[in-house]
Amino acid sequence: MQALAALCFLVLAHLPHLRGDVVGSFQDVPQCLDFFHKGTVPKWGEATPGAARLCQRFHNSYHFATLYDTHHRIAVYSAYRFQTSNGGGREKRWFVEPQLVDLSWGADMKDGYWLGQDHPGVYLGERQALNEDYTHSGYDRGHLNPNGHHPVPSRNATFTLTNVVPQNPKLNQNAWRIYESQLTDLFNARCAQAYVLVGAIPSTDNWIVKNNVKRVNIPDYLWNAYCCLDNNGRPIHSGGATALNTEQNRVDRRTLADLKRFLSQYTNSPEGELFLNNCEA
Ligand SMILES: *[C@@H]1O[C@H](CO)[C@@H](O)[C@H](O)[C@H]1NC(C)=O
Repeated sequence: MQALAALCFLVLAHLPHLRGDVVGSFQDVPQCLDFFHKGTVPKWGEATPGAARLCQRFHNSYHFATLYDTHHRIAVYSAYRFQTSNGGGREKRWFVEPQLVDLSWGADMKDGYWLGQDHPGVYLGERQALNEDYTHSGYDRGHLNPNGHHPVPSRNATFTLTNVVPQNPKLNQNAWRIYESQLTDLFNARCAQAYVLVGAIPSTDNWIVKNNVKRVNIPDYLWNAYCCLDNNGRPIHSGGATALNTEQNRVDRRTLADLKRFLSQYTNSPEGELFLNNCEA
């Protein structure tokens, strides 16, 4: 029995975590690269201290990718492919990322409530935001990758707290929501495929504070960039937007070039291309 236990330990200890959700690089999981135009991961945010790369897994398959800032406990961006949605209900659970608690835990996102029940005494929120952080905070759990851009089950998978940021409720429910649905119309009408990036610019020192602990950074801005392709996979249209995260409730549309100039204010490293060849044919 002891020998068997020792053998089990040896095997488990040496299993590579390659198939997991938290990966060293997005290239480690080929399916994860499908969420980036031509498999090209942008340089934007790659030097973020404490960044984790999440291949968002739900029900044993991958649905989108997130570069997650474990210090601010919000995403740098989520990357996804737009999918036509026929609606469907709203997922009631909020998921967390087990592997941000312990790399040996399961690769599928889990309902934070049940993960807590399964691991009593383990604090899940060291490197990620928890549902309770948002409760009574005055901020919405604002999706980066929106549920409306996917059918079930990808739609469910967007309800992971690693894909949301504290968003001004008015902006989330009004101007930003309208912008997302305008993108839906555009992508359905004109694009055979669309690759999308949605990110947040963290604030210097504005946080959701719980019990005197700075828990979740309240970002100053949300931004969006998209690359629309024809049937032959050729880029035909691109664009983006930024929104100040306040009750000003305004979305400013931008070209990719303009968005790059905007982002360059918030980095010391070259901001690079958001899409291969700037989504030009
Ligand atoms: C996805 O969410 C819908 C709406 O809440 C739910 O009915 C469905 O069971 C969920 N699917 C999965 C695979 O969990």
